[in-house]
Amino acid sequence: MSASAVSQSLRSSQDHSSDETRKETADPRFTEILLRAVYSENRVIRNNLTANRGKYKSHRIKSKNLILEAANGLSGECIVIGLGNGMDVPLKRLTKQFDHVTVIDIDRETCEATVSKLSDNLQTKVTIKQRDLTGTLDPIAKKLETFLEQDPKPTHANFCNKVLELIRIAIVQRLDLPEGEASFICSSLVLSQQISLLHFYILTLENKFYPSETTFINSNPEYNVLISELANQAQSDHPKHIRYWLNEKGKGYISTTVEKVSVLESNDRLAFRRMNPPRLMVNPSAIGKISEIFDVFKKEMWYWYSHPARESCDCDKIGSGFRVHGMLLETKKT
Ligand SMILES: C[S@@+](CC[C@H](N)C(=O)[O-])C[C@H]1O[C@@H](n2cnc3c(N)ncnc32)[C@H](O)[C@@H]1O
Repeated sequence: MSASAVSQSLRSSQDHSSDETRKETADPRFTEILLRAVYSENRVIRNNLTANRGKYKSHRIKSKNLILEAANGLSGECIVIGLGNGMDVPLKRLTKQFDHVTVIDIDRETCEATVSKLSDNLQTKVTIKQRDLTGTLDPIAKKLETFLEQDPKPTHANFCNKVLELIRIAIVQRLDLPEGEASFICSSLVLSQQISLLHFYILTLENKFYPSETTFINSNPEYNVLISELANQAQSDHPKHIRYWLNEKGKGYISTTVEKVSVLESNDRLAFRRMNPPRLMVNPSAIGKISEIFDVFKKEMWYWYSHPARESCDCDKIGSGFRVHGMLLETKKT
């Protein structure tokens, strides 16, 4: 089935189920520039995966095995958050195991392409909901783009002030998913990403409106403070939202990149080194929040060699990657 056929089939399965038990609401309309920015992030991951299959293998196997272990013995409704290219999510196995799988991701196009690789039969068990997990990206994008339509060449100061004003009033919202319906929720490498998309989108806009200038928003200290505050808020709300959607006996899986590392490749041996200063990807308090809300019944740490060094010389090579944490969760016994 082609990706557009999948889109049709998924939309009609959504329409069909709306008059039954599962209430559906329409996808919000995101701005085109936001969607292009989101899609290009996933295209980069896809291209890197194609170019580095061997080097991604251990991360993918680790992640898929942990997700299957967390989901072991469960059935009913499964939610996959941030499916994207599905490189580290065992979508086929989950779709076979559960009665229904809801995919939540802001990038519908990439998710449709991923789902289209399933058999026709399994595809009918999947519903894609195109949503921003934080509820902040779209309102900011719409207001910023309206502002730029009225004044396509604002001064740097006016552009920065508008961005700062919008981020200051942004509040992380919970999505319109039913409470307590899911028996399993998988969130794989999304926690640290939720607000990175907003940052990437703002840089995309800046580049579109000031094409021949070097970036200025990125070096605005107040911008950096506000965007990381918003990211902290989204990160600590993520496990709360997952708990809200899970049923009492539900289980969950959250993995996240926790730190960017440099990778020294020498005679096919890899050495993972912390950067100086350290480049943390999540606020440690967000990880603490997960164990406040859930019983973490297994926790693992591994490295994902995401950006291998170029094969241009025989000498030692330096690439980069991430330290990743994966946590298997169950609802706290009261
Ligand atoms: C780094 S990728 C995760 C990798 C993915 N699990 C895979 O197996 O390919 C992050 C995914 O989360 C989605 N995402 C990031 N931030 C989001 C947000 N605020 N709302 C919804 N989806 C988001 C992205 O579109 C992307 O598909």
